[in-house]
Amino acid sequence: MRIPALKLTRTLQNLAESGPMFREAVERGNLATLKTMLGPAWRGLVQQRGKSEDITPMDLEYQASFDWKYRRDQPDMTRLYEAAKKSQWNSTTDLDWSIDVDPENHLKPIIPLDFLPVAGLDSFKKLPPREKAQQAHAMASWLLSQFLHGEQGALFAACQVTEAVPWLDAKLYGSTQVVDEGRHVETFNRYLESKLKKRYDINDNLYVIIDALMSDSRWDLKFLGMQIMIEGLALGAFGFIHMKTMEPLLKTLLRYVITDEARHVHYGVIALQKVYAEGLTEKERREREEWAFEVSVLLRNRFFAHELWEEGYAAQMSRKEWDQLILGSEMMAMFRRTMFKRVIPNLKRIGLLSERIRPHYQQHGLLEYEHLPAAPELTAADLIEDR
Ligand SMILES: [Fe+2]
Ligand SMILES: [Fe+2]
Repeated sequence: MRIPALKLTRTLQNLAESGPMFREAVERGNLATLKTMLGPAWRGLVQQRGKSEDITPMDLEYQASFDWKYRRDQPDMTRLYEAAKKSQWNSTTDLDWSIDVDPENHLKPIIPLDFLPVAGLDSFKKLPPREKAQQAHAMASWLLSQFLHGEQGALFAACQVTEAVPWLDAKLYGSTQVVDEGRHVETFNRYLESKLKKRYDINDNLYVIIDALMSDSRWDLKFLGMQIMIEGLALGAFGFIHMKTMEPLLKTLLRYVITDEARHVHYGVIALQKVYAEGLTEKERREREEWAFEVSVLLRNRFFAHELWEEGYAAQMSRKEWDQLILGSEMMAMFRRTMFKRVIPNLKRIGLLSERIRPHYQQHGLLEYEHLPAAPELTAADLIEDR
């Protein structure tokens, strides 16, 4: 089989970049996590299945559990289920799709220009407004495309946890999340197709996380990876873009989605708090702490946005130079703030932020606001206002 040059280059760069992550994981003695991540990493970083295939079949292995007693003994979950039933919305009729969106209108940008990692470069500053707006269009399409791919992962993860979770109240709630995530896939896809008219492939690092949590047989890791980490981060990113965008359809759409996502993260925290408090061996806790940390590294790597570098900047700068630019960018600052605000407090709440793992987060500058409120204390309004 002949591998196209660009794909081969990208594969080699992916491997070189992931090398330090795997080496550090080995140094941390994180072998159990490495073992479960190697398959997804091979499929995501080397085979790049999310980019090279139209449809990716995935073999899954986990247990569904039936509850024949139909016990309704989880009042927290019941409250969320009731709230979810009342908050359903219809993307087709509740959003005004007749709004005309010009993604390259520099007076009303989808995302602010200073959000672009290249905003500080002299070559960018000299560009005419329309060309700057074209780059903002690419960045907005890339970000929203990753949201779309994440939503597809969330849809399947919600199906899996609904089957696997042992409590009936959690299954009932889960059924509403399946509908929510289906609606999110519908909505982001429609916005990308009909308004931005540009969709990017899934980022390799995001593929690895989704593959890892889908193919793992432990249901609590599906909760941890999707409900706490990916959705926590998405919530922060949605809140940020909701605040900054001047495009009214996207603003309204994100307000609806944030309200749903707030419930999803809340659900993950309640479920994991319960199951982890009920009993994890020291070894199991350690594995979960390490898994969460590796996922946070992959989540950060996704923000390197190499798809954008390949498309517009590979001729101007090396991937290493691009990465430096990203590390100092407003986008990376947003990632860190969001991890502080929306993910770390929840990891702490479910008991996965022990003294042993804290230094690793500290090293990445991710512990600053660990005392902020966790999901159960936050209202949808807090999240919409990005408080
Ligand atoms: Fe969602
Ligand atoms: Fe969600």
